[in-house]
Amino acid sequence: MASPVKTLTTLAEEKTLESSFVRDEDERPKVAYNEFSDEIPVISIAGIDEVDGRRGEICNKIVEACENWGIFQIVDHGVDPKLVSKMTLLAKEFFAMPPEEKLRFDMSGGKKGGFIVSSHLQGESVRDWREMVTYFSYPIKERDYKRWPDTPKEWRAVTEEYSEKVMNLACKLLEVLSEAMGLERDALTKACVDMDQKVVINYYPKCPQPDLTLGLKRHTDPGTITLLLQDHVGGLQATNDNGKTWITVQPIQGAFVVNLGDHGHYLSNGRFKNADHQAVVNSNYSRLSIATFQNPAPNATVYPLKIREGEKPVLEEPITFAEMYRRKMSKDLELARMKKLAK
Ligand code: SIN
Ligand code: FE2
Repeated sequence: MASPVKTLTTLAEEKTLESSFVRDEDERPKVAYNEFSDEIPVISIAGIDEVDGRRGEICNKIVEACENWGIFQIVDHGVDPKLVSKMTLLAKEFFAMPPEEKLRFDMSGGKKGGFIVSSHLQGESVRDWREMVTYFSYPIKERDYKRWPDTPKEWRAVTEEYSEKVMNLACKLLEVLSEAMGLERDALTKACVDMDQKVVINYYPKCPQPDLTLGLKRHTDPGTITLLLQDHVGGLQATNDNGKTWITVQPIQGAFVVNLGDHGHYLSNGRFKNADHQAVVNSNYSRLSIATFQNPAPNATVYPLKIREGEKPVLEEPITFAEMYRRKMSKDLELARMKKLAK
């Protein structure tokens, strides 16, 4: 008899954690998924468009958060709460489907978009405790609907609307950062050329031994800016002292967690931090998060848009985003190789 297809939802039923998920001690969680901290700024952006009103105050808060953390939460952002809950519900329905259904969208073997049981960095043997489904939503001409889940039925219409609203919101935030750098409002969006958007929906099932593993390994996002929705469970953690201390971001219903990626960091010449973050899991609840990555086009140039007096450029030379990404991946691979050798 053929062995049943195993997704994480099946592995979650087992009493002990399969060894491929066990991390080295230095990488394991230091702080629990529900030990929430209020250190990450929560900013209401109601009135962000009112030039003579709250705009100045809101912009200052966003800029300060980017300088100190590179990560913050926004509320009163204007994306319809009904759309947000619809998106979350549909995503939950997707992951609740039997493995065979989800695996119709299997993206292993280098396909662009689809479903994957658990991921790990190439060259690294330890796996993340997550299932995910991903698709490319911008530029519109690049949409490959064959790689978008078609179940539940309303998925496509809802995610199309969601993608558009998040794209608009991301551009608004980039405008604030452009102005803070003393540039034209559209400087950062222009630097992305034709901005890409990729949606990644993460599902972290309950885990039998959550202290030994991570839902998503520590990383910075490569792109310009990321907007993340998370459910009420908690598990997203950030550090601003190179991993000495971690804080768990307090989940807020309907809020977006915003974080700057490497591209945003480089364009600001390091003024805005690229937040180091990870996701931890737990044995009580499964967790869902929806990350929308706003990335520059592969051929966009990565180089500081403004270098302030007395500063050195953080990059030696202008490179393309594709090259920046390639270098990041090979650095990660090299680190993983060194770690293996040191064992
Ligand atoms: C991510 O970093 O893309 C997701 C983190 C999370 O699930 O909270
Ligand atoms: Fe991330």
